[in-house]
Amino acid sequence: MRIGIVHGPNLRLLGRREPEVYGSTSLSEVDLALGSLAGELGVELEVFQSNHEGEILDWLEARAGGLDGVVINPAALTHGSIGLRDALLGLSLPFVEVHISNPHAREPFRKESVLADVASGVVFGFGPESYLLGLRGLHARLSS
Ligand code: DQA
Repeated sequence: MRIGIVHGPNLRLLGRREPEVYGSTSLSEVDLALGSLAGELGVELEVFQSNHEGEILDWLEARAGGLDGVVINPAALTHGSIGLRDALLGLSLPFVEVHISNPHAREPFRKESVLADVASGVVFGFGPESYLLGLRGLHARLSS
């Protein structure tokens, strides 16, 4: 099984960015933890981060054929990228949407996700653990 991990805009700043919201774990630490869980599950990962919506769409299009599914933290794209929604649907890529924070406990504009209703699952509010729960969930879904 091959799973893509996609980190959206500003997630490179993890560890430095609003630590009261996102904590002190860096993105490379998140990726390391994902790598070790992937080893346990026997899953291959392909990891991608971009601050640019179009680059994420291009990456998904280029990689979709080789992936069984995607764990994605769409970051700010969550709340408005119809392009990302259309790409995930158009490529028939099962995906889990993850968030470090709990968007429902924040500003009202974060309550809306344009992806959640077409996701295989959504995990939010567990800090970096959300990614690991998302990977476990997607692996279980794809295995069943
Ligand atoms: C986020 C939540 C989004 O609202 C925000 O734009 C992010 C990060 C999260 O992981 O909690 O960049 O996706």
